[in-house]
Amino acid sequence: MSLCKGIFFAPIAAKIHGACFDRGWSEEEFQKLLALPTSRLWMTEEGMLLCSEVAGEMEILTICVLPEFRRQHIAQDLLHELFRYAKAQKVKSIFLEVASDNEAAQKLYAGAGFKQTGTREGYYARKDGAVDALCLTKKV
Ligand SMILES: CC(C)(COP(=O)(O)OP(=O)(O)OC[C@H]1O[C@@H](n2cnc3c(N)ncnc32)[C@H](O)[C@@H]1OP(=O)(O)O)[C@@H](O)C(=O)NCCC(=O)NCCS
Repeated sequence: MSLCKGIFFAPIAAKIHGACFDRGWSEEEFQKLLALPTSRLWMTEEGMLLCSEVAGEMEILTICVLPEFRRQHIAQDLLHELFRYAKAQKVKSIFLEVASDNEAAQKLYAGAGFKQTGTREGYYARKDGAVDALCLTKKV
């Protein structure tokens, strides 16, 4: 799996994202994100991982796997690809936020060595209110 560079990947990224989240990001949004020099994208036909890299730190902006391909360690493989890259680039820490009601993602991150370092209360809107964001960090 290699780093995917350029806005060329926006249509397929939007397609995968839209199939994975209630409010998927549009092709235009991905074009803008992928045009940034700080964006790092890993993608397969089944899933994707988008990060930003700034000053020796990385943030996971989104990770998702198409429903029909879940529980086959695709997300885990994407994270391992990120960790290999981060080590090679001498990145010190990787950050992310995950919703407190997203058990699958929390288990994925815990298994990959992320630790909770903070909470953002009421960060994600839900139909019947809001849930917290858990702020997780992994030292590379
Ligand atoms: C979270 C998500 C990316 C996981 O993708 P995936 O490819 O199915 O995950 P993997 O197969 O690599 O799982 C690795 C480990 O994470 C944990 N895990 C993943 N999905 C899980 C689930 N539904 N329930 C419990 N544990 C789960 C397990 O420990 C799993 O290892 P195991 O299968 O050997 O037990 C996927 O469910 C998804 O796209 N969800 C919607 C988008 C989303 O919520 N993204 C994260 C936003 S922060």
